[in-house]
Amino acid sequence: NKKIAIAIDGPAAAGKSTVAKIVAAKLSYIYIDTGAMYRAITLKALEKLVDVHDESALEELLKSTDIQLIQKADGQRVYLDEHDVTMDIRSKEVTNNVSYVSQHPKVRGEMVARQQKLAERRGVVMDGRDIGTKVIPDAEVKIFLVASVKERAKRRHEENLSKGFSSDLEELKKEIEKRDLIDSKREASPLVKAEDAIEIDTTSLTIEEVADCILREVNKFN
Ligand code: C5P
Repeated sequence: NKKIAIAIDGPAAAGKSTVAKIVAAKLSYIYIDTGAMYRAITLKALEKLVDVHDESALEELLKSTDIQLIQKADGQRVYLDEHDVTMDIRSKEVTNNVSYVSQHPKVRGEMVARQQKLAERRGVVMDGRDIGTKVIPDAEVKIFLVASVKERAKRRHEENLSKGFSSDLEELKKEIEKRDLIDSKREASPLVKAEDAIEIDTTSLTIEEVADCILREVNKFN
C-alpha cells in the first residue's frame, strides 16, 4: 500500500488527536501532534519568563529549543530539550497562552519547517490548525473536524474528570471559545478549512464512526 499523508485540522477539542491516534495505529503510520509542539515552546517561554507577545525573543528561544515527539508503548511522549513534558504542556497556564505564542509568523515559520520535515516521507497523520492549508498542502487526505462548542467543552470536561483533574464546564467553554477566536482571526495561517478538505461534524458521532469515515477516504488511495 502506498503511504500517504493525512492532515486533520479543526478547532480546539474537536477530537482531532483522539481520532488521529486511532487512524495512525490502524495504518501503522506516525502520529504527529503539532499542537504539542506549540505547547512545548509556550511552556519554555513561561518558564524562562519570555514574553509571549515578543516575537523576536520567541524566535530566538525556539532556535535553541529541541522538541521531540516520541512514540512509546504507552502513547506519544513530548520531549522539550530532553525533558519529558507530556503532562506539563497540558496545564491551564500553557493552554491559556499557547494561542499568543502561535500567532507570531516567525514562530510559525520555524514550526512549519520542522513539521514539513517530519512529513517528508509520508506515512503520517498530522493534526493541527494549518496542516491542510500550509504544512502539507498536497496531503492526499485532508479532514476538517468540527463540533459545537457545547459538545467540545462537555467532552473535555468528562475527559478531565475521568483523569481525576478538577474541571469547570463553563470555564472550559470560555477557554475553547477564546482560543478558537484567536486561532481563527490571526493573520499568519489562521484556522480555516482547506478548500479540498472533507468536513466532518462530530457532534453526534462516536470516535469510531469518525475514524472509520477517515479510513474510508484513505482506502480510496489503495
Ligand atoms: O491542538 P492543540 O489544542 O493542543 O493546540 C494548541 C494551540 O496551538 C492551538 O490553540 C493553536 O493556537 C496552536 N496551534 C497552531 N497550529 C497548529 C497546531 C496548534 O497554531 N498546527
